[in-house]
Amino acid sequence: MKIGIDKISFYTPAFYVDMVELAQARGIDPDKFTIGIGQDKMAFPPVTQDSVTMAANAALSLLDDVDKEKIDLIILGTESGIDQSKAGAVYIHRLLGLNPFARSIEIKEACYGATAGIQMAKEYVANHPESKVLVMGSDIARYGLDTPGESTQGAGAVAVLITKDPRVIALEDDNVFLTGDIMDFWRPVYSETAVVNGKYSTEQYIQFFETIWAEYQRKFTYSLADFTAICFHLPYTKMGRKALNTVIDSVSSEDQERLLENYRLSTLYSRQIGNIYTGSLYLSVISLLDHQTSLKAGDRLGFFSYGSGAVAEFFSGTLQKNFQDYITAKDHQDLLDKRKKLSISEYEKRFNQQLPTDGSTMKIESTDDPAEIVLTGITEHMRQYLKK
Ligand code: CAA
Repeated sequence: MKIGIDKISFYTPAFYVDMVELAQARGIDPDKFTIGIGQDKMAFPPVTQDSVTMAANAALSLLDDVDKEKIDLIILGTESGIDQSKAGAVYIHRLLGLNPFARSIEIKEACYGATAGIQMAKEYVANHPESKVLVMGSDIARYGLDTPGESTQGAGAVAVLITKDPRVIALEDDNVFLTGDIMDFWRPVYSETAVVNGKYSTEQYIQFFETIWAEYQRKFTYSLADFTAICFHLPYTKMGRKALNTVIDSVSSEDQERLLENYRLSTLYSRQIGNIYTGSLYLSVISLLDHQTSLKAGDRLGFFSYGSGAVAEFFSGTLQKNFQDYITAKDHQDLLDKRKKLSISEYEKRFNQQLPTDGSTMKIESTDDPAEIVLTGITEHMRQYLKK
């Protein structure tokens, strides 16, 4: 039985910061951000969006009534969760009006969380072929104003429907995963922003990729030349390219050209959005599907997932017949085109707007957030959500 991605989409908030303006405000050569890091714009969420609302907004356009009835497992991967106890997926379950006889849980392992969810979903569908599983990865990447990580912030979510006989990508059973207890990036429970050993994290990302790729080559017969494209977790768009560079010389110049062009196409959305942590790998998959018109059924795609701390995984999937009919490229482009640019001072002001943490009530009276699902405030430590 084939199992895999039946539907896939993303959501990103309605505001962004221009990276050239950010560089100028910080006294940095803009080429460092646009070329050295590889980012043009950085999505920024209004106070009315959090990891719950962004995930729900990503899933909203994806599901029809049959899906809503058949989904009985809802998994949210996030590292910017809103509660230490209650799963964000429980709020999402209600906001989307899903079948009540369902399991709703949250998974955490940095940017790897959504991949863990997708693999768990695949194994669940293998045992329950009539079930559908909704997996989301949703995050706000925050390092702080005027920090080295600032240029690699972002916000957004992906939603993926995992089913049997998938219409977009059938996932293979060729997974290789790797765990190593390292301190490259983490966020203590008392901190709003991540702690990061920046250079070390980039070295570890590459190291994990090289180790996993060597093991993949040892265990499976596919070589790099068998892949139409490799999609990477993209904390910033230069990062995946650095990993790809470590193996690209092993193939012919024709294969190199294809893999590099497809890598470029897989990074187009991330260039406009920035790091969305758990959803980032799947944003690169969507970017490739939306932009590469020469893709065809049977093409093999590789996926490299990396979650700091660290857990990484490589696996592959093949494109299914008529997958193009289920790609929503125009909706994605519209979402990006309608965004509003924030001036640097407006971004800095908004960056410091936070919900109260002392139990007091805050009602967000007016909002310029066009999203269908929004946070409207907080009452006695309870976040209030609304589907407009
Ligand atoms: N023109 C063109 N390029 C320039 C330039 C200029 N004027 N000035 C600098 N550059 C280049 C540099 O040469 C460098 O390129 P290479 O990496 O190819 O050598 C690049 O721009 C970045 O410059 P620096 O290394 O000096 O940048 P930095 O030290 O200020 O910070 C960073 C970079 C470490 C990625 C930092 O932004 C950071 O800490 N980000 C958060 C952590 C992160 O994203 N880590 C990624 C791996 S961990 C992971 O993947 C999990 C996750 O999602 C967090």
